[in-house]
Amino acid sequence: MDSNFIPLDIQLLQPEDEKPFRLYILLGDRFVPYSQGDGFTEETRQRLLREGIHTLHIRADEKHALQAYMNGNLQAILADPSMSHQEKSKIVYDTCTYQLEKLWEAPEAKAIEESKGIFRQSVDHVISSNRDAIRDMVLMITHETSIYTHSVNVGLLGTNLAREVYSDADKDLHEIGYAMFLHDIGKTRIDLSILNKPGRLTNEEWEVMKSHPEAGYQILEGEGHLTDEATSTTLQHHERCNGEGYPKGLNSSEIDELGKICNLVDTYDALLADRVYKTALSPYQALKIMKEEMQGQFDQQMFKEFLYMLY
Ligand SMILES: [Fe+2]
Ligand SMILES: [Fe+2]
Repeated sequence: MDSNFIPLDIQLLQPEDEKPFRLYILLGDRFVPYSQGDGFTEETRQRLLREGIHTLHIRADEKHALQAYMNGNLQAILADPSMSHQEKSKIVYDTCTYQLEKLWEAPEAKAIEESKGIFRQSVDHVISSNRDAIRDMVLMITHETSIYTHSVNVGLLGTNLAREVYSDADKDLHEIGYAMFLHDIGKTRIDLSILNKPGRLTNEEWEVMKSHPEAGYQILEGEGHLTDEATSTTLQHHERCNGEGYPKGLNSSEIDELGKICNLVDTYDALLADRVYKTALSPYQALKIMKEEMQGQFDQQMFKEFLYMLY
């Protein structure tokens, strides 16, 4: 696929409004400007869908215009009664992914503030989802190697697991969601040659990698966006109940509940991801390994809640 273009699900395009980017359609192996006549209307969208076309493309150098467009549209899309809950989940997922990609380029106060609005709306969508809708969402999430989709997966799954764990408690799921989406923000300080290394890390590289929890904490503190919840997720998402985690090797009684929740969904998502040095596991295989080989790592009650949430 031509990397000068990026695919765009046509469900993400609001009919009628002005698009700050040009649309292209893939014909054979060529990207051709998509003539919209009197604009991209609902009729246009339905016609494309009838023809089996679900994706248009934009030029990669117009990516920022797309991100701004999607952020501006999320509220309208989530309020649109003509769209199914499942379609909205897909849009939430894509919008969060674009937003995290943007945040990764410059993890600074302004971008963090802007992301908060997207995360808040996404958490509202999670809260409005019943059990079946959550299971649909779990099936929909992609397990690429991308740090952006990983962050979205942990954000959505972690928020929902917190909803299960804290069913009666007075917890702010918006704050929890924010903390989950940003749990790995410290990886923005890790050299790309280590972060994207296609294989296992050397001992020295691994030591650098292990600095990302502390780095995440420092970034949020330095940008004035540290919260209690984000302190737990950034610093503790690699701590394990059996004391074998990092950076501090805390034991179960020393790890916050949010740190445990974040570690659980983070581990699950990492097992499902396809990496050069390991093939992707199915959800069943991942949960089996977590139950049989990693048992001491997790809080058992939380693990049960997680299983209940997925099945
Ligand atoms: Fe991490
Ligand atoms: Fe992570």
